[in-house]
Amino acid sequence: MSKSVNLKPSDLPKGYKSHLSMMKERDSSWHFDPSIKDHSAIKLKDIKISKDLQDFLLSYCETIPVEIGTSARKGDLENYKSNTLIGNKLDHVFHGYTEHNSQMSYERLSREESNPLLKNVIDQTNLKNASIGIIKVSPGHVIPWHYDSYVFYKKTNNSKEEHNVERHIVFPFSWHWGHIYQIGNNVISNWEEGECYTWPMFRYHLAVNAGVENLYLLAITGLRDDS
Ligand SMILES: [Fe+2]
Repeated sequence: MSKSVNLKPSDLPKGYKSHLSMMKERDSSWHFDPSIKDHSAIKLKDIKISKDLQDFLLSYCETIPVEIGTSARKGDLENYKSNTLIGNKLDHVFHGYTEHNSQMSYERLSREESNPLLKNVIDQTNLKNASIGIIKVSPGHVIPWHYDSYVFYKKTNNSKEEHNVERHIVFPFSWHWGHIYQIGNNVISNWEEGECYTWPMFRYHLAVNAGVENLYLLAITGLRDDS
């Protein structure tokens, strides 16, 4: 495994064509037009959030190492065309993001690794084989425009299956100034604690903290029960 590097524009492959522009050609499930009204954000049943969970998240997030949205392993760059995670990261660099504005604390836990407070959230989503991501975005940082590759889900479940995989994003704290989440053309703000959203597969989304307090998110990924 090669070591992680902070990507700069000079690291972009020669003649780099953005992953976003390829997705515009490939993904017929969306119009990729910011001027068109759409229904990308699908609001789900609220998740019950306990004070214990909030207290846990506040202290636990201080222990999570910071990840940089524009960093990747050098070796991964060689197969960027087939690795959608790297494609999205290269796009961040291509669109001008740097290690100075794309930091987040992000811990991914399987249900087995989760404590009872997190297990309770996972179970409320009714997703099968689910895992949970615990995310903190500090003021001044963003998770840039990307779509999910479900890498942890696939690794945990030893599965290449994407069909029926769904991510539910939960806001464990009520909205504060400068906290913005966007799914497709839908901008979400002013949420109450426990609000929960999902979106169609491959739909682009982002998170912004232009505020004065940390933004916390929970991302539960698992199989939708279509039965
Ligand atoms: Fe995402």
